Amino acid sequence: MEILPVVLFVAFILFLVLSWSYRSFKNLPPGPWGLPLIGHLHLLAGKPPHRSLQSISRKYGPIVFLKMGMMPTVVISSQKIIKEVFTTHDIKFGSRPYMVLGDHFSYNYSGLGTSPYGKYWKDTRKLCSMELFTAKSIDSFAWMRKEELSHALGEILKSFSNSKPVEIRSLFSIFAFNNMSRILMSKRYFGEDEVDSDALEFKEILLSIVDLVINPSCISTLVPWYLRWLDWQIPRYKQIHAKQEKFLRKIIDEHKETTRECKDFLDIMLEFYGNNAQGETHVKANLLEMLMAGTDATATTSEWIMALVMHNPRVLIKLREELDRVVGSDQMVQESDLPKLDYLQLVLKETLRMYPPGTLLFPRMATQEATIAGYTVPKGTTLLVNVWAVHMDSAVWENPTQFYPERFLGSSIDFKGQNFELLPFGSGRRMCPGMPLGLRTVELLVANLIHCFDWSFVPGTIPSIEEVYNGSCYLKTPLQAMATPRLPMEVYGSAEIK
Ligand code: HEM
Repeated sequence: MEILPVVLFVAFILFLVLSWSYRSFKNLPPGPWGLPLIGHLHLLAGKPPHRSLQSISRKYGPIVFLKMGMMPTVVISSQKIIKEVFTTHDIKFGSRPYMVLGDHFSYNYSGLGTSPYGKYWKDTRKLCSMELFTAKSIDSFAWMRKEELSHALGEILKSFSNSKPVEIRSLFSIFAFNNMSRILMSKRYFGEDEVDSDALEFKEILLSIVDLVINPSCISTLVPWYLRWLDWQIPRYKQIHAKQEKFLRKIIDEHKETTRECKDFLDIMLEFYGNNAQGETHVKANLLEMLMAGTDATATTSEWIMALVMHNPRVLIKLREELDRVVGSDQMVQESDLPKLDYLQLVLKETLRMYPPGTLLFPRMATQEATIAGYTVPKGTTLLVNVWAVHMDSAVWENPTQFYPERFLGSSIDFKGQNFELLPFGSGRRMCPGMPLGLRTVELLVANLIHCFDWSFVPGTIPSIEEVYNGSCYLKTPLQAMATPRLPMEVYGSAEIK
């Protein structure tokens, strides 16, 4: 009986000595002591992971080696090291690690965001870049965005006439989802009076899947492949997958039965991947990932802008002045006005600096050993890029916690992946391909909401600006606000497509 504590103590000391010698022998980056099995997971508890990882890197340096459960992970949090990774070593980190998203939902890593770096990924990325994300293609969807905007404004007017608050998150999420589903497969799921209940369920499913991207409760991401069966959530993944499959299957079947004047992206994908079982699997994986990435990040960014602007009346007034001057108070904001709205661009940059939806980017994996900042990153290591920590680094930004859009005035810093101090869309080969579409959608929505309505908090409430991390960085409490029209009523009607 008495021998057990002694054995455990000796085993623990042995474990510490062995991990220390392994770390120095391998020239791994520094990091705190981990525990057997759980590694450093306990250090992530209690705060959003980008904040816990920032605290660790403040103590151990801008590159740290951790164990997420049993899986080796390197976290980088400095502009200089991130630049080194995305320039010198980008190809070595071109693939994703094991992810529940890829394994259980993206049909064995068949979507653009999850597929490993190689021919399939390159072909898919090229297809999307040429058919979906060109300036011409984005312009060609302007009429859809205008219609969806008109519906969103209609919802806000309805809330106003009923003296009810606008549920900003759900409004934005429906706006973004309708836009994406119409662009991808010419289908609108959320109308004024009818809501497709399958689509509602599917939208919930997308949120649950986003939550599984970086989530310490997914045991399968924390253990080597031979222990993944231990993940007690597998039945839940299977259940979600079955519902997702039913929805995506129906989309493809319906699509094949109907004819269209112009091909949409689903037709293009079916032609490209082949009208057979394997081709359809690739189509389903890409549809899922595009709907997920396109809806969630767009709606989340728009909600953050609205929340930050409402909390900063000075910024709201300046935005208004610009909108009145450039657009005029007798019409809505058109897409052609957006490039002239300089202050709106500053507000967007500042929002994406403080609250990028992907605070940790999408995980990468070392497919070869790499030397970064003088340390060895072994093959198979997961790489987490804490862009939020860089966006909040006081050595890079003056008063980083202050919302101050003017910091970008006269600055050439942009978020196109070349300025490593500001990376809300990532950088390198796997940088977000949907950036131009996402930006256009966010700008149009937010500019019109601010131009067309006066906004105030629900009486008696001042919502906090606290964030929560569920695979993306969200406002902890969904934003609700009271809207009052500020333009002549006939302006709102002009949004309708005649
Ligand atoms: C404001 C809106 C958006 C933000 C902030 C955003 C952000 C990001 C980020 C941070 C990444 C990871 C990049 C990396 O790993 O380095 C990413 C990847 C991706 N995004 Fe976006 N995104 C937005 C809109 C969109 C839209 C509208 C779409 C498309 C419909 C889209 C599709 C994708 C895809 C497919 C990937 C994976 C690319 C790959 O692995 O090759 N995103 N996005």
